[in-house]
Amino acid sequence: MRSGWWCQVAAQKVGVKSSEELVVGLDLKSCEPIMGVKFVEIDFLDETQFLEFENSLDTKFNIILSDMAPNSTGHKKTDNLQIMALVEAASDFAIKYLKQDGCFVAKVLDAGPGPEVQRLVNKKFEKVINFKPKASRSDSSERYLVAIGYKE
Ligand SMILES: C[S@@+](CC[C@H](N)C(=O)[O-])C[C@H]1O[C@@H](n2cnc3c(N)ncnc32)[C@H](O)[C@@H]1O
Repeated sequence: MRSGWWCQVAAQKVGVKSSEELVVGLDLKSCEPIMGVKFVEIDFLDETQFLEFENSLDTKFNIILSDMAPNSTGHKKTDNLQIMALVEAASDFAIKYLKQDGCFVAKVLDAGPGPEVQRLVNKKFEKVINFKPKASRSDSSERYLVAIGYKE
């Protein structure tokens, strides 16, 4: 299955009307071209690939969204540790690349982002909530960390 669904919605929300790339998306998996989206196929946890991606950036962002999640192993502790590594990498990225007052959203599982990331995010944003969307199945461990008002 391809990725890019969130990029498509983000491009609509931003109101992309030309080929100017106002949205940047990344995933391990490829994505069909979407107008207004620069898509990069990388492993966000791979240092070499990440540095190459980082070097291609020439702007900061208003919003950074991470829906990254590893394939479930069926072992809750392992799944939580894997997603916590992704949340930590995403929050480090957000803290480096968000504009003042920007927002950060990251998928976490019910274990949350981990105490260090939670502390850092609480310190760097005006408001932080743990959110379970109505669309998320009640038996799913899916949760989102929503952080609003980045303080540069
Ligand atoms: C729940 S899906 C999210 C789909 C996404 N919302 C979309 O619109 O396509 C989780 C995604 O995280 C990606 N992922 C997992 N680990 C990753 C990593 N280390 N680097 C980049 N993407 C990763 C997977 O490839 C998968 O597409």
